[in-house]
Amino acid sequence: GDLESLQRRPPVVTIMGHVDHGKTSLLDSIRKTKVAQGEAGGITQHIGAYHVDVKHNGEMQKVVFLDTPGHEAFTAMRARGARVTDVAILVVAADDGVQPQTIEAISHAKAAEVPIVVAINKIDKEGAQPDRVKQELTEYGLVPEEWGGETIMVPVSALNGDNLDTLLEMILLVTEIEELSANPDRAAKGTVIEAHLDKAKGPVATLLVQNGTLRVGDVLVAGSAFGKVRAMVDDRSQRVKVAGPSFAVEVLGLADVPAAGDEFDVFADEKEARAVSSDRSDEQRQSRLLAAMSSRRV
Ligand code: GTP
Ligand code: NA
Ligand code: MG
Repeated sequence: GDLESLQRRPPVVTIMGHVDHGKTSLLDSIRKTKVAQGEAGGITQHIGAYHVDVKHNGEMQKVVFLDTPGHEAFTAMRARGARVTDVAILVVAADDGVQPQTIEAISHAKAAEVPIVVAINKIDKEGAQPDRVKQELTEYGLVPEEWGGETIMVPVSALNGDNLDTLLEMILLVTEIEELSANPDRAAKGTVIEAHLDKAKGPVATLLVQNGTLRVGDVLVAGSAFGKVRAMVDDRSQRVKVAGPSFAVEVLGLADVPAAGDEFDVFADEKEARAVSSDRSDEQRQSRLLAAMSSRRV
């Protein structure tokens, strides 16, 4: 049964915070690659999903990181990030302090009942005031452990790598308590992290597998989009054939572009999957129609 098949799964960690406080740089530094520099204008446009191997208690452990944009236009993405995550890393720049998207990230994490670990970033900077950041955060219910509260706050520098080991250790401590598990033997289900139409490849969706194992050839419904997985690519653009619990992969083969935040399910039977997706399309059409009618009927 389902209970016997439960196995540990990697934690899913979402990096949140105000624009330019260093979320992508932090993740970049953890991955030791150069994502932030390659971005258009240095602004994160979508949620990036990355798998990182972290050494913990003498063994390697996978952690899945989701990067979110801090720009104010991306509220929905931050809300979505919070929903699918096991722990939120709240990045606050030590020279800039609590800002509107910091506060918003706190409320998303709280609404999703996700534990928050604070990374006070840019401590290498001249004007860094980590204690002031801590003080400001207490106004939003986050009191640091060293002041008698319950929130872990780690001063870090994404630029020179200071304290990143401690931050990773804290993330793993928090997620260890959660005893995260899933059943890799069942049909996959999870959430669409982002999706777009690629001129050459057709609909492309980044899917986070939350339970089960997703395989090439699987028939799935994501939101109202039907698809048969033609190919999957991981965060290093490597083709993969399977994606187990907590893994995020880019999937080709969907007939339409699902909405980010949609749930997806794998079906054993292609006919059933097509029926479900067309039912869901009808429902969506109907609710759009109803919304249009009610907005006209004032
Ligand atoms: P958005 O995705 O646009 O919300 O930004 P972000 O939070 O991902 O910030 P990003 O990583 O793009 O960094 C913003 C700027 O801060 C860049 O110029 C980084 O080089 C700089 N920065 C990030 N971390 C540090 C740090 O620890 N120290 C210093 N001095 N600069 C940093
Ligand atoms: Na930025
Ligand atoms: Mg970024």
